Amino acid sequence: MQILIVGIGALGGTIAARAIRAGLPVRLAVRNTDSAEALRRSGLRVSGLGGEVTADVIDVAAVEDYGKGDQFNLILLATKAQEALEIAPHVVDLLAPGGIMLPIQNGGVARALADRLGEDRILGGSSNFGATMVEPGVYEQKNAGHLVIGELAGGVSERTDRIARMLGRAIEVKTSSNITGAIWSKLLINCSVTTLGALCSQTMRQYMETEAGKKVFRQTYQEALSVALAIGTRLERLSVDPIPPGWPSSFAAEEHYQSWVEAIIAFYGDVKPSMLQDFERGRKTEVDFINGYVVALGHASGVPVHMNATITGLVHQIERGVLQPARDRMNELADQACERTRGTSI
Ligand SMILES: NC(=O)c1ccc[n+]([C@@H]2O[C@H](COP(=O)([O-])OP(=O)(O)OC[C@H]3O[C@@H](n4cnc5c(N)ncnc54)[C@H](OP(=O)(O)O)[C@@H]3O)[C@@H](O)[C@H]2O)c1
Repeated sequence: MQILIVGIGALGGTIAARAIRAGLPVRLAVRNTDSAEALRRSGLRVSGLGGEVTADVIDVAAVEDYGKGDQFNLILLATKAQEALEIAPHVVDLLAPGGIMLPIQNGGVARALADRLGEDRILGGSSNFGATMVEPGVYEQKNAGHLVIGELAGGVSERTDRIARMLGRAIEVKTSSNITGAIWSKLLINCSVTTLGALCSQTMRQYMETEAGKKVFRQTYQEALSVALAIGTRLERLSVDPIPPGWPSSFAAEEHYQSWVEAIIAFYGDVKPSMLQDFERGRKTEVDFINGYVVALGHASGVPVHMNATITGLVHQIERGVLQPARDRMNELADQACERTRGTSI
């Protein structure tokens, strides 16, 4: 089995180093020849949880330098979401007959690729292990999570098991018969915990100390949840039940709702939002595949998504440098929540 990993950033670099050390036949694709040359010189080094590994000799080239003679049984797409959509149609021709592409981005990427390239060539993937790139070639694994993979149409398959067994030699991999539900359950967290934290430059624990933060979290999460359920998603339990107690009647079980929120804070409350890191580095975010994806599906299915739409717009303004992440952002959003939900039961 020949493997190509495209995008040797935080997640791709960490997986690549561990896969090479495990003896898997892995080749790497980066943005251009300069990046390839730099990585060839530096090799890969991963520290942190999961143990330290180095890979001094790596087979790396610019993505455009892979061509006709190259055939891969698995292409792991580990770029950011936008780049994954751009690159996938070019690298799909590198798949051997029966080969599979595995995108591991959050949100709507795998579904979009399956719609464009065919479900027979795409598996769904989601990572709950976190890694950062210190510099190209140097990575730190931040937690001991795993990759979960599965058929987007649901159910079990021989090819999912085969890939899980193989990648499982390098990192922890689980299979899911409901990967779409798993991706959506994580998306609910991405929409609320990650994006809201980035907008106000705080962790979830910090913004949930304010009434504004509580109100905005609730509406953001509940809109995304309503969309997920409206399009027929069967949500998977991750660390916390994705459906708040008492849902959809939010008044009946207020104390249970608070315990549910506490459980989310216990799990995600102290993580620095990855989107905030994108803001700090002046990079485009993945918001169009997170809150923006919820908005698009909300509009298509007639579910109100005002808060997620406002949030998506604010993120775009920060990307353009028109606004900055700031704590006051949460108060502005909370005021809008009052305006827009007056008379509703959220
Ligand atoms: N890191 C995590 O802990 C984590 C956890 C869960 C999910 N995810 C998801 O996994 C995905 C990757 O995240 P990440 O943190 O690893 O991002 P990242 O550190 O930004 O890595 C992305 C890599 O893709 C490369 N790339 C971009 N365009 C390319 C192209 N055309 N050809 C080849 N390579 C290209 C980038 O190279 P340049 O530097 O040259 O742009 C970069 O090295 C994201 O969707 C993220 O949401 C990440």
